[in-house]
Amino acid sequence: MAHVTMSHLTRMQKYWLVTGSVGPRPIALVTSLASDGLCNAAPYSAFNYMGEDPPLFAIAVDHYGDESHRPGERKDTLCNIEERGEFVVNMVDEAIVERAVLCGSDFPAHISEPEAVGLALTPSEIVKVPRIAEAPISWECKLFKVLDFSEQRSIVFGEIVAMYFRDGLLDEENMRVSIDEFQPYGRLGGPNYARTTDRVKLRVPTYLPSSGVPRE
Ligand SMILES: Cc1cc2nc3c(=O)[nH]c(=O)nc-3n(C[C@H](O)[C@H](O)[C@H](O)COP(=O)(O)O)c2cc1C
Repeated sequence: MAHVTMSHLTRMQKYWLVTGSVGPRPIALVTSLASDGLCNAAPYSAFNYMGEDPPLFAIAVDHYGDESHRPGERKDTLCNIEERGEFVVNMVDEAIVERAVLCGSDFPAHISEPEAVGLALTPSEIVKVPRIAEAPISWECKLFKVLDFSEQRSIVFGEIVAMYFRDGLLDEENMRVSIDEFQPYGRLGGPNYARTTDRVKLRVPTYLPSSGVPRE
């Protein structure tokens, strides 16, 4: 068994070990609007839900590093969200995963990634930011809070105000996601991704079956 003390590592080494050991991670393809109205899209996998009432989630955005084309700058997604206070999180499945990953390329700020990679935009109802038409599920979101927790990283807390489901993905009667139909991609370390088509059901049993109901 290898034991590694984090304080002995460089920043990149910590990044590789942390991101290589937490996965598959959900991918948020975030659309946001620049001040000139240009629609930006970028994938973020430091992303997960935090609660349901209010429906909060978090996305960690690192700032462009010394090795990048824009050292020290905040990413367009973060600037746009801070400026407008609203954005859209689009989920990523097989149909759009390759184009979603392309959106992570170093496009300059004046290029609209959805247009560059061939993803169609369609208006949202509540927020002014468009969503990705091909996404299986999209969330209309308002900014809840930005936490600048280090020189290099900020956490965006967002609140979901409305959701879109592709036909067949919402079981309206039971208000559940039709989970067999929703097949998001997950990100592993580096350029590695996982499908979610191979599934198992595991129910959490109650300790005292006579007094509890298994959690769904
Ligand atoms: C699948 C995937 C997941 C990514 N996840 C993150 C992330 O969680 N945080 C981050 O800062 N960058 C992440 N990136 C890199 C950004 O997408 C990339 O820096 C992008 O160009 C930022 O664009 P923007 O300046 O338009 O916001 C990810 C890239 C890919 C391909």
